Amino acid sequence: MCGIVGVLGNHEAAPLLVEALKRLEYRGYDSAGIATVNGGKLDRRRAVGKLVNLSDLLVHQPLAGKSGIGHTRWATHGAATVTNAHPHKAGPVAVVHNGIIENFRALRAELAEAGYAQESQTDTETVALLAQRFMDEGLSPIHAARDTIARLEGAFALCFLFAGEDDLMIAARKGSPLAIGHGTGEMFVGSDAIALAPMTDRITYLEEGDWAVLTRKGAEIFDSLDRRANRAETRIQIEATRVEKAGYKHFMAKEIAEQPVVIADALKHYTTAEGTLRLPEGVDFTGVDRITMVACGTASYACHVAKYWFEQIAGLPAEIDVASEFRYREPPLSPASWALFVSQSGETADTLAALRYANGKVARVVSVVNVPTSSIARESDLALPILAGVEIGVASTKAFTCQLTVLALLALKAAHDRGRIDDVALAAHLDALRNLPGLMNHALSLSTPIAAIADDLAKAQDILFLGRGAMYPLALEGALKLKEISYIHAEGYASGELKHGPIALIDAAVPVIVMAPRDGLFDKTVSNMQEVMARHGKVLLISDAHGVAEAGAGAWKTLTLPDMPPVFAPILYAIPAQLLAYHTAIAKGTDVDQPRNLAKSVTVE
Ligand code: AGP
Repeated sequence: MCGIVGVLGNHEAAPLLVEALKRLEYRGYDSAGIATVNGGKLDRRRAVGKLVNLSDLLVHQPLAGKSGIGHTRWATHGAATVTNAHPHKAGPVAVVHNGIIENFRALRAELAEAGYAQESQTDTETVALLAQRFMDEGLSPIHAARDTIARLEGAFALCFLFAGEDDLMIAARKGSPLAIGHGTGEMFVGSDAIALAPMTDRITYLEEGDWAVLTRKGAEIFDSLDRRANRAETRIQIEATRVEKAGYKHFMAKEIAEQPVVIADALKHYTTAEGTLRLPEGVDFTGVDRITMVACGTASYACHVAKYWFEQIAGLPAEIDVASEFRYREPPLSPASWALFVSQSGETADTLAALRYANGKVARVVSVVNVPTSSIARESDLALPILAGVEIGVASTKAFTCQLTVLALLALKAAHDRGRIDDVALAAHLDALRNLPGLMNHALSLSTPIAAIADDLAKAQDILFLGRGAMYPLALEGALKLKEISYIHAEGYASGELKHGPIALIDAAVPVIVMAPRDGLFDKTVSNMQEVMARHGKVLLISDAHGVAEAGAGAWKTLTLPDMPPVFAPILYAIPAQLLAYHTAIAKGTDVDQPRNLAKSVTVE
């Protein structure tokens, strides 16, 4: 996911742009650049790698000017090189872009035909060349940008800057979020409010298809039919965007540690002091015949866990799918069903597209998100915030357990609405959830023994995670956490699947991490463990005291978690999975918060 910033300021733009880009680093990137207009002259500086490289370049080759645009690029078309870094420039036009221009090849050929040759491999340079051609044909910068935007297909957020125009920026949003910031005699553009927080707390979010003409006096916004549009100006809570490590070595470590607090916040938000549910009134499962849950990555594993809850507690058929598959398999959807979309960022392109597929086909589109102002939230009939707070680490941790918590509450509401549980049983389940923050603190205290285990895991080439029932998706999540930040190949399997192939992988070099509270499936999982140990597999058993006492003998290592009702155990067992990944990545020396190749939110298909 790329990051965009723009400044029409009363001070030098370069330092503001770099500071804003720093606040977008969490999105993941592999090059960065800025452009400014100074006395009408348009110039730019770009660098590969981390922002510090751009800052160094600006020390030696400073860029003056109070108007500017900046960008952090996560490579899609073309490798991470200076030539491919943004801003892209063509004649008097500079542009920064987040998203994908799907028709850029045809446009590039058309432009080459007209003598506008492309330097880089990017789709973004095509946008700059198209605007340059329109200006060469006599259009004003505003009309050149407007007509360029109209030619583009795909998903994009754009910000244009023009030579000779010290008081003009054009911004556009189609498929990738973009915000306008209002200053005093200054105006700003940013991919999100986090980027703009140092400059303003007055934000206007562009809607789908909007484009805007900004001067220091303000912004004129036009909709996709070029009609004047009024978009609300909101004040963001600056502290909500405060993203500091607060003494932790990594954002991921801070966010793992925050889980007891944010889970407690989510529970406080959605339950009353008397121990009843307090969900938005639209959350009524009466007459709902099925729920279809769709997400990507870690969020999809949260849906997978919730499938067990909706089916086992509420008796509600629950279908799950990853967003990138969902709409293309054209699933028939019942008009009496709900479609539920889970997304930390609320901007994942596949999940948003899946939501748009379901819209109009189901009784209600519901989303569980961490950003209430996000596209997915805004396009839902009902959006439930998970209240995890800003999550910076690319590997999702507190958002995952907060998603699980909100999904558990929804499953309990469904069960109660469908008469599957009475008030007493509901109160008992809510008690179990309310005990979670304390149990999570206990699990967090295992960080030191887990770090010791991680030193061994870091030497492995392949690692397996096993789980049964609702712990199976936890095995998938544990494998994803580990692979995405330590770069070790890891796979999650349903324990019962071991004999159907994966057991061929087992030998003394393959650690097998078994996640198994002492529940009704425990004995079967123990059999699987024995099959692994009989083949010299190294088993790490993560269970409760009973489980470790019964089956820990012969295991390579064990981790003992506090007892809890097995039904919600996946929320607790996420903690050791996260800590194993975190410490293994530390042992490997990888970039924990911004692992290679990954972005915090994948806003392109
Ligand atoms: C999680 O650790 C990953 N970084 C990734 O799988 C993520 O969960 C996925 O991209 C979905 O993101 P979202 O929740 O913002 O939609």
